[in-house]
Order: sequence, then C-alpha cells, then structure tokens
Amino acid sequence: MDLSLWGLILCSLIISVAGQTPVVSVEPRAVTVRQGESVSFRCRVGNDAQGIHLEWRRANNQALPDNAKIGPDGAVLTFANAKPGNQGQYRCVAANSAGRGMASATLNVKFPPKVRLTPTGPLHVKVGHGVSVVCRATGRPQPTLSWKRQGSTLQLFTTETNDANTIQWDAARLEDSGIYICQGENSEGVTEVKVKIIVEAGPGVPVATVSTTEMTVVEGHTVTMSCQATGSPPPEISWSKLRAPLPWKHSVVDGTLTLSNVGRQDSGQYICNATNIHGYSEAYTQMEVETPPYATCMPEQVRLRAGDSLSLQCLAHGSHPIHFVWSRAGRASLPAGAMTTKDGKLTVGHVQASDSGTYKCVATNHIGSSEATARVNVRA
Ligand SMILES: *[C@@H]1O[C@H](CO)[C@@H](O)[C@H](O)[C@H]1NC(C)=O
Repeated sequence: MDLSLWGLILCSLIISVAGQTPVVSVEPRAVTVRQGESVSFRCRVGNDAQGIHLEWRRANNQALPDNAKIGPDGAVLTFANAKPGNQGQYRCVAANSAGRGMASATLNVKFPPKVRLTPTGPLHVKVGHGVSVVCRATGRPQPTLSWKRQGSTLQLFTTETNDANTIQWDAARLEDSGIYICQGENSEGVTEVKVKIIVEAGPGVPVATVSTTEMTVVEGHTVTMSCQATGSPPPEISWSKLRAPLPWKHSVVDGTLTLSNVGRQDSGQYICNATNIHGYSEAYTQMEVETPPYATCMPEQVRLRAGDSLSLQCLAHGSHPIHFVWSRAGRASLPAGAMTTKDGKLTVGHVQASDSGTYKCVATNHIGSSEATARVNVRA
C-alpha cells in the first residue's frame, strides 16, 4: 500500500470515533430581571453529538457567582435571588472528543438607586468659604440625580456630569445652613440621602438680620424696614431691591429703609447688605403692596336687537381675591335668564327691549371696592 491510501484510512478512522462536534444554543439568550427575582437559562445541544460534557462559565472566565446553581444534567443555570453583580454574560460550553461548541446568554439585573455623598457630613463651613458635596448613584437603569433643600423650593446651584451631581457654594452664607437632599431616581425606585451643612460666622464677619422677612401693606401707606448687623469693625448697611432700583421716594437712616406712599410696583424683595473688611451678609424682606380693585366693563356700550344675546365682562386690577356683583341701575333684579360667573361675566340669552338700561358691576376685595357700568340699548 502506498502512503496516500494509509492517510485515507487514518482519516476515516478518526471521524468514526469522534462523531459530530456539538452545536449549542442557549434559551433565553437575554433576560432582564429585577433584583431579588429568579431566572434560569437552558443550554441545548442541537445535533446528535455524543459523549458531551456541558459546562457553564462566566464570559469573562471568572467563577460563577455564589447564588448561581447548575442543574443535575449540567444544562440549566439558575440564579436564585438575582443580585446586581450577577449582571453579565454567561457561556455554555459543550465538549466531546470531536470538538467544542458554545453559546452565550446575557443577564441584566435592574435595581433601585444606591446614592452616595462625598463628603457625607455634617459639614461645618465658615461664612464666605467654599463648600461642595458630590452625589453619585448606582442603579439600573442609570438613575437621574437631583438636589433639593429640605423645606424649600428655591433653585440650588448644582453641576451635573455623567455620573455625578455636585452642589456647591463659592462663598457660603449663614442662611445657606440647612439640610440638603440628593435624590436618585430610576424605574425601580427613589432613594434620598441627606447632608447637613452648618455655616458658621467667623470673628468679626458681618451678620445681617431684618426685623421682618415678610410684610403686606396697603397702597399709599409708608413702610419702614429695619436691618441690624453684627460684626467688627461695625458693618456698613445698604439697602437695594432685587432686580430693580429702590423706589424713588425712599430714605435710609441708621440702617432703616423708609418708603413713602407705596404703590403696587413697589412690591418685591428688599435686600439689606452689611459689609465690612471681612465680607458681607445679606438679609431679605419680602414686601407686598395691596391695592383696592379698579373695575372696568367690556364693552361699555352695547346696541342689540330683541332676541340677541348680551355678554358683558367686568375686569378688575387689584389684590386678589376679587369678588364681582352685577346689578341694574333702578331695578331690583337682573333680567330673567341672566347668568353671572365668579370671574365677572354677565350673560343674558335673549334680551328684550325692557332689558335696556345701565348695568353695574361692583368689584370688591379685602381693601375696598370699585364699580363700573355698561349702557345696554335693546331695540324692539
Ligand atoms: C453686598 O455687598 C457686597 C460687597 O460690597 C457685594 O459684592 C454684593 O453684590 C452686595 N449685594 C447686593 C445684593 O447688593
């Protein structure tokens, strides 16, 4: 026999001994579960490959996690009480003497946010010094992060990057003391972590306080707002108005701001600023000027034919709430079928000639009242 014939015999011998290489598939190929749920993957060999040894592995070749169990025939991989760390790819490898086949499955584990602050606090910071707290969260899906202040809806200064949200002050003020909350949220839940920030006055640093933080006055009256400041050397006090100049009729004497004959436009936030060489401190007074109503009718004159519909609107400026009452001059009641609304509307579906006359609207709030009239002329 020549050499090539020997080769042929040898080849067929190997094929008949080894049989087929395993063809492997995994069911399901990808699955998403919540933390704490259980899940199984089954590995199948799709052909008649014989003498197979099955093995499950992590795709990164690390050991299977503690809560992963493999069924008696080696085909079923089960995760009891899935953990966030179980997320990843798992590979089923089937081997026999003819070769190896493999297939992989992906496990996703969703979990509610875990929020972490750096530093954790409580934080003590001197007035005028900078402070920042970084908030990070893990969770699947990726949580969104936000900061808020306990008991306040004021906008905070925060910076957001891919995986962190930082709250910061370049120069902390006494009134920044408080509890700040970072919230992480995803479809699995909401987690909040708090940090306490305590801003402390240093020696000599100014601290301003106003006698009233909120006040309401009636139009035309005179208002005084006083501001005291501690600090060394004694701070200088100045007053300003948020986003507007101080009213024209104002004076400041010994830290007290006086506004005479106030009008609606003088409402707003007034800021006392106490300044010395160590820094400054601001304190705020919110003032609202209340005004009596000023009413007008829309339209002031109407000409209609009998059977037309009448619609009058009473409008009023002034402090809310404003209450409207319609009546008719010289008559005890409104026409039959007249309807009025809370917001000052009067309607009559079908007017008659006898509905002609003067209609009066009185607008009232807790300061005063105002009236306006409309002339209605109905031709028969
Ligand atoms: C208060 O005074 C300081 C220092 O002069 C100044 O930087 C700051 O803008 C003032 N604040 C207001 C509201 O005017």
